[in-house]
Amino acid sequence: MEKPTYYITTPIYYPSDKLHIGHAYCTTAADTMARFKRLTGYDVCFITGTDEHGQKIERKALEQGKNPKAYVDEIVAGIKKLWELMDISYDDFIRTTDERHIETVQRLFQKLYDQGDIYKSAYEGWYCTPCEAFWTELQLKDGCCPDCGRPVERMKEESYFLRASKYQDWLIDYIKTHPDFIQPPSRANEMLNNFLLPGLEDLCVSRTTIKWGIPVPFDSKHVIYVWPDALANYLSVLGYLSEDDSRFQKYWPADVHLVGKEITRFHTIIWPIMLHALGLPLPKQVFGHGWLVLEGGKMSKSKGNVVDPVVLCDRYGVDAIRYFLLREMPFGADGLFSNEALLTRINVDLANDLGNLVSRTVAMVEKYRGGIVPAPGADTGFEGPVVDCANALYGRVQQAMDGLQFSQALQEIFTLVRTCNKYIDQTAPWVLAKNQEDAAKLDTVLYTLTECVRMVAVLLAPFMPSTPQRIFDQIGVQGEEATCYASAERFGTLSVGAHVKKGEALFPRIDIEKEMGLLAEALKASQAGAGAAPAKEAPKADKPKAQPDNKGDKNQQAAEKPISLDDFFVSKLVVAHVLACEKVEGSDKLLKFSLDVGEEQPRTVVSGIAKYYAPEQLLGKNLVLVANLKPAKIRGIVSQGMLLSAEDQKAGTLKVLEVPGEVAPGSVVG
Ligand code: ME8
Ligand code: MG
Repeated sequence: MEKPTYYITTPIYYPSDKLHIGHAYCTTAADTMARFKRLTGYDVCFITGTDEHGQKIERKALEQGKNPKAYVDEIVAGIKKLWELMDISYDDFIRTTDERHIETVQRLFQKLYDQGDIYKSAYEGWYCTPCEAFWTELQLKDGCCPDCGRPVERMKEESYFLRASKYQDWLIDYIKTHPDFIQPPSRANEMLNNFLLPGLEDLCVSRTTIKWGIPVPFDSKHVIYVWPDALANYLSVLGYLSEDDSRFQKYWPADVHLVGKEITRFHTIIWPIMLHALGLPLPKQVFGHGWLVLEGGKMSKSKGNVVDPVVLCDRYGVDAIRYFLLREMPFGADGLFSNEALLTRINVDLANDLGNLVSRTVAMVEKYRGGIVPAPGADTGFEGPVVDCANALYGRVQQAMDGLQFSQALQEIFTLVRTCNKYIDQTAPWVLAKNQEDAAKLDTVLYTLTECVRMVAVLLAPFMPSTPQRIFDQIGVQGEEATCYASAERFGTLSVGAHVKKGEALFPRIDIEKEMGLLAEALKASQAGAGAAPAKEAPKADKPKAQPDNKGDKNQQAAEKPISLDDFFVSKLVVAHVLACEKVEGSDKLLKFSLDVGEEQPRTVVSGIAKYYAPEQLLGKNLVLVANLKPAKIRGIVSQGMLLSAEDQKAGTLKVLEVPGEVAPGSVVG
């Protein structure tokens, strides 16, 4: 008989930074689901990958003086290593730089163009590079990106557009009549109310200002905008529109796309419209999960509050980290990540409840029955609830997993663990062991405990890939019949005769007070970028140094470590010729410059030097500009760089750096 199929995906990650534990969250959830489905008889296709095109990557590569492909290759290798470490059992890994992907995207784009769903026009609007998202004036929040709060840039260019507006009514109706499509349901309302009902504009799907992307097949001046490119990975990985589309025929439509809540929008508006226009069925579900947040807000590289999953896995083991991620917060809601919460979970649930149950069970079978699990004998009067709990468990876990409620499923499993621990206290096997007439009862207790431990181990398999085998080794259970997933359906006789063997503690108890300090140190060291080249540049690039208000701490940031020449040339210093200069209205600190730096367009730069110079004093001068800073919005003006100056703090004076004599704008300083 052919197995039913199950196609599950994670988002494809931007290889711009080192991944943090927030990224590992989604991938762990998807992996757990994939394992669960495989174990329950499905033919699973589980996909993850990397989203490698776009302006953000192009800029970061440039900052490091690398070509974009070489830059991403290195990071992608690191991402694959992380997934290996975390036992992520993906069936395929798609990169948007893969030839197979590029081919599918170009064919799909051509098809939409040929049938009139893509057309040429011009685009003007606001663009957030970190989010790779366009916004209308109305959608901006305080003039910044409503998603990440960072500055946006004005964009005007000839573009291709996807006729999204044409499909608006169809999509509204689809969402309303398919309540399972967007989960959790609150996100469906958010999409309807915030994006669809106010009216959908046609979507800009190409760019001419960047090169790092997939060329529009019929117009090589344009590259395809990252989102249609990225979303198409779910099809290209299956071979859609390729010579061999058998995987596509087999697995599409996807059963579920797992995505973070901030990208639910792209997956439930643009993606369905693309698919519908292509004549394809929609994924059965898009699940928008919550964020792991730290006390300071969402974990993100730019805030410098990321938690490195490698450090956590090294210290506590992969299974403990996977357990924590899936247990701590209901899938869909945000959850607070703290070192203390992590250590407490490991101690309470894993070291105490589970670890103790296993070690006590094994120790008692060794001590009272020579290490061999006896067949059950006489009732002690306490088995009823334990056996009921064990028999109900499989169905409960199944139900929770069908709704992607990982935390709920784990709670169910741990209910049996706790019930067993209570059962030990109730039956007091050490007392039964003293009386020969209680021998049959003691047999029952030892058998019941071992059998429950076996069931727990079986059911933990999707969540914790290596713990079940460690438990089976200790309780001496082996063979497919007693370890396969279906063997947890019924409390039975599978443990009788097993030879138990005491092993190492499954999860050693942690001295939380001592460990807190050590863990914090280890995380800090990894954040400082020890051994991880790509992590080093991010804080530099993300710090809004162009902001004049930040000048104060410039001196404190002065590098204490010697740097290499390469480090120095991370900053691109160029000669900037002052074309125009004026005071920024409403500010006595700021001057706004129009600078010729030898590019097609002059740059606008805001600098906090109005107290030291009148605008006309600087007109026509050649100054020195840091040209590769991330743009920052200052008083509503997007500033594209920082002018160098020397400040004498004691005297309270400041002089801008000037290049004397004739020198062409854009000449490199260094
Ligand atoms: O958005 N907690 O990539 P990405 C939970 N390339 N999840 C988090 C998180 C956190 N603190 N931080 C990030 C992209 N994530 C696109 C996707 S799909 C066709 C293209 C999640 O690397 C985030 O919510 O910025 C998102 O789902 C995923 O990591 C990838 O983020
Ligand atoms: Mg993101």
